[in-house]
Amino acid sequence: MARILVIDDDPQLLRMLGIMLERSGHERILVTSGREGVDHAVRNPPDLAVVDIMMPDMSGHDVVREIRANPATVDVPILILTARTQSVDREAALACGADDFVAKPVTPQELSDKITEMLDRPAKKARGRVITLLSLRGGVGVTTIATNLASALRLQLGPNITLVDLSPNSGHVALQLKIQPQRTWLRLLQQPDLNSDLVRSLLTNHSVGLNLLAAPVAPTMNASLTEGQVAAIASILSDGAEYVIIDAPPTLSAMCVGALRASDLVLLVLTPDVASVQTAAGTLHALVELGISGKRIHLLLNHPASQPGLSKQAVEHGLRRTVTFSVPFDAYQPRALAQGKPLALEDTVSPLPDAVRKIATALVKPI
Ligand SMILES: Nc1ncnc2c1ncn2[C@@H]1O[C@H](COP(=O)(O)OP(=O)(O)OP(=O)(O)O)[C@@H](O)[C@H]1O
Ligand SMILES: [Mg+2]
Repeated sequence: MARILVIDDDPQLLRMLGIMLERSGHERILVTSGREGVDHAVRNPPDLAVVDIMMPDMSGHDVVREIRANPATVDVPILILTARTQSVDREAALACGADDFVAKPVTPQELSDKITEMLDRPAKKARGRVITLLSLRGGVGVTTIATNLASALRLQLGPNITLVDLSPNSGHVALQLKIQPQRTWLRLLQQPDLNSDLVRSLLTNHSVGLNLLAAPVAPTMNASLTEGQVAAIASILSDGAEYVIIDAPPTLSAMCVGALRASDLVLLVLTPDVASVQTAAGTLHALVELGISGKRIHLLLNHPASQPGLSKQAVEHGLRRTVTFSVPFDAYQPRALAQGKPLALEDTVSPLPDAVRKIATALVKPI
C-alpha cells in the first residue's frame, strides 16, 4: 500500500481516480487545487504524486517545480496527467521535473498499471556531487585541473559529468576543450528565477559527452550572477549528473561564494611558491569566516612550471595542513592547450593525466 496524492481540478476525474486507488489498496489524498497539493506534499510527502497540467490557480508545471524545489519532496515520483498530448507537451512535463506522463483520456486500468510500474522503479539516485576548484591567485592551473578532472571522470563513469566555468572575464574551459559555445551563463543575468529548462538549454555538449555551462568568451562588464543563482545552477545541474565540476572565479565574489556553499568538496589549488602558499593561507582563513567547513576543503598542489619550487612538506608545514593531491609538471600540457584536447582524454601516459586519473578514482571512493 502506498500514499498517493492526486492534484486535479476535475472532480469527476478525482472521484474516478479515488475509487481506482482504493480498489488497488492505496491510501489516497485527493485535492482540487495546485497550491493545496503542494502544501499537502510538503507537509506529508506522499509515495507518489499524480498532477494535472491545466488547473486554474497554478499550472501543473509550477506544482512539479515547487515539489522538486523542496528538499522534503525532491525525490517524490511525479506522474503528469494531461489532455495536452503533443510531444512538446511531453517534453515540457519531463523537463519541469516530472518522472512520467499519461495522456487523458485514460482508463482506470491504464492509470493503475502506470502507478504500479512507477512505484516498482528503483529509488532515484541521489544528487550528483558538486566539486569546486578554487584559487584566489590566478594562473595556478585551476582551469587545467578542472577540465582534466571532468574528462577523467567522464571516461571512468560515463556521460553524466557537467563542467561549469564561472570565470567572469573570459572562460578558458571552452578553449581547453576546443568548443565554441553559442550560449553562456550570461543569459541568466536578468533571470531571478532559474528553472531547469532554462539552465539546461545553455549547456554545450562536447563530443566525448561532457556537458559545459560556458562562461562568456569575451570579458563583459558587470557579468556577475548572484550567490542564489549559482546555488540554483549547482542544484539543477547536480540533479541528473554524477558530478558537477565548477571552475570558480579567482575572487571571493558572490558567484564564488555561491559555488563554495553549494559544493560537497572544494579543491583549493596552489603552486609550490611562497606567494601561492600565502594566498592559500589567507583563503583558508576566509573560508572559515564564511562558515565553509574545513572538512570539505582539500589542498591540491599543482606544478605548472618545470622548476621544482617548494617541497610538499614545506607547503604542508607553512599551511599546517595536509596536501591531499599533487599534480606534477607536464611538458605535454602546452601542446594539449594548443590542440584543445585535455591530456586526460588522450591515451598517452604522462604525469598530469596520470595524477588527475588518480584524483578521479579517489573522489569516486569517498575521501
Ligand atoms: N601541471 C601542469 N603542467 C604543465 N603546465 C600546466 C600544469 N598546470 C597548468 N599548466 C599551464 O599553466 C597555465 C595556467 O593554467 P590555467 O589556465 O589552468 O590556470 P588558472 O588557474 O585557471 O588561471 P586563470 O587565473 O587565468 O584562470 C596554462 O598555460 C596551463 O597549460
Ligand atoms: Mg582559469
